[in-house]
Amino acid sequence: MSPRTDDVSRYLRQTQELFGDELYLNISSQPSTSGMDGGFGSDITAFEQEICQCQKCPLGQSRNKFVFGVGDPNASLLLVGEAPGAEEDKLGEPFIGRAGKLLDKILAAIGRNRQKDVYICNVMKCRPPNNRDPLRSEVDQCEPYLLHQIHLIKPKLIVALGRVAGQTLLNVDKSLKSLRNTFHDYHGTPLMVTYHPAALLRNQDLKRPTWEDFKTIKDYLDSSK
Ligand code: URA
Ligand code: URA
Repeated sequence: MSPRTDDVSRYLRQTQELFGDELYLNISSQPSTSGMDGGFGSDITAFEQEICQCQKCPLGQSRNKFVFGVGDPNASLLLVGEAPGAEEDKLGEPFIGRAGKLLDKILAAIGRNRQKDVYICNVMKCRPPNNRDPLRSEVDQCEPYLLHQIHLIKPKLIVALGRVAGQTLLNVDKSLKSLRNTFHDYHGTPLMVTYHPAALLRNQDLKRPTWEDFKTIKDYLDSSK
């Protein structure tokens, strides 16, 4: 067993004692991201330069800024949203609108920030017009970029923010509720799904379950140091 799988198993045994069978392991035998560098650069800044003019899908024409991602290139925690919104498209940085400010508060509560042991990006690097859901054809063009970011950053845990990010990465059509409280597997890296911070702005009742998720995230990362 690889050390990472060992860590996951130990953690899951501990959490099972605490939470019963609510959390369970779903490790599939998909290939790991190593060996999936697709010929891209070996440094995150060089990689950004390499792809920031992308025109592989029609969003390349409609975007203002390519939104590559921000944060610590050696982060243990990778947060992945759906796609840039209007503010992000204007400034080229993910999660900087109202939802992003709330995300910053959540990160502060687990002792992290955009510069410290967190990397933040989206499945889609360009904004879909009027914030519509990304099309599968667009995701298919863009997802290899995320895979290469993961290959370079090597996070211990990926957290998908919101239903669309979770469904897209896991290629399933399930509700957010049913995707929560599970360690999924994304190409060899554990992945959890939690609420999108924008959903918390619309519905205060989601703050508590989200906080529970971030406590689980913190405990998991602390236990795998
Ligand atoms: N919502 C997202 O999913 N990503 C962003 O970058 C901003 C808002
Ligand atoms: N719907 C979403 O798109 N995101 C959430 O986090 C919850 C419901």
